[in-house]
Amino acid sequence: MLNIGLLGLGTVGTGIVQILEERKKYLEKLIKQEISISKILVKDIDKKRDIEIDKEKLTTDIYEIIEDDNIDIIIEVLGGLDNPYYYIKEALNKGKDVITANKAVVAKHLEELTNLAKAKNKSFLYEASVGGGIPIIKPLKEQVNINQIQEIRGILNGTSNYILTKMISENLDFQEALETSQRLGYAEANPTDDIEGYDTRRKLRILSTIAFKDKIDEEDISCYGINSINFSDIKNIKSMSCTVKLLGTAIVNDNKYYASVEPVIVSQNSYFSKVDDANNLVSFIGDNVGELRFFGEGAGRFPTANAVLSDLIDITSNTYQRNCFLENSELDNINELYRGKY
Ligand code: NAP
Ligand code: HSE
Repeated sequence: MLNIGLLGLGTVGTGIVQILEERKKYLEKLIKQEISISKILVKDIDKKRDIEIDKEKLTTDIYEIIEDDNIDIIIEVLGGLDNPYYYIKEALNKGKDVITANKAVVAKHLEELTNLAKAKNKSFLYEASVGGGIPIIKPLKEQVNINQIQEIRGILNGTSNYILTKMISENLDFQEALETSQRLGYAEANPTDDIEGYDTRRKLRILSTIAFKDKIDEEDISCYGINSINFSDIKNIKSMSCTVKLLGTAIVNDNKYYASVEPVIVSQNSYFSKVDDANNLVSFIGDNVGELRFFGEGAGRFPTANAVLSDLIDITSNTYQRNCFLENSELDNINELYRGKY
């Protein structure tokens, strides 16, 4: 029996419970054991939920979950920074595998938590932390084994892309579009992180650290959000037959990297201009493979829960190299292998 401790039953946590219920038989056959969500951490046990849930499973006491030796895997979908970081660390220390969708924690503590998981021979996986439902971390980790990655570029925040799309195509005002994206479950608890670019910056820090095999701190990435874009900007951009997108870009050149998050005016011919609503598009360029582009739903209940559960399958079926990105030492020297395409 695989016992899961689920931390959080909001947008993403609810999706995880729903998919696990719907696909239970198939998943159990796939991983060759029964699956049970044994306990769920919430803030308010009596809150009205979107799904029927056995209240006996709900707890507000993290130690009921972390100290439970029968629980094998912790899935963290709480949001926030300090508490989830502490819970993930405690869970790894207690010998549990951990999956998270929390980019704030991953961006801040990626190396430490990866190393801790390695030391404990456990997994720390975070596919849902970047790009919602799009598989991007796993393909990137696979490609860094045989490629020197030269560039990452992407629309990495569903909320801000939704707002910009609605402002451009439906003349909605900023606040109205933001409120709709919150209702749809795309925005963070504090949407400042979405609209001021911090969420994109966290995702770019995670991707570029994996891609360039070097610690790229959030603070080293210049960051401008979409909060100051007004109707007059939108009108001018439309009059040029262009659109505007919040892009995260990280480029390695001459053994140095450049990374930024900023709104960029893009022509209608650009593939970024076709990315509407809460969709994301991530592109990376490897010296062998060329450009790879990944498109899909960048936020929302089911796409994000799907990404979390793909990590669960990877852990339980052992189909995936654990915590592999820190181990690719033979490609560490960017300068030596760099083929000078710029
Ligand atoms: P959410 O809807 O706000 O849900 C948060 C859940 O955590 C709620 O069930 C809440 O309990 C519980 N919780 C929060 N603080 C707690 C505390 N101190 N103690 C106990 N329980 C607590 O959040 P979400 O949208 O599901 O996002 C969860 C995580 O996934 C975040 O890190 C987010 O960045 C990430 N993520 C979200 C999306 C998305 O599209 N929403 C996509 C990718 C990644 P109650 O239910 O009792 O209030
Ligand atoms: N708030 C985030 C977004 C959720 O809008 O992209 C997905 O990470």
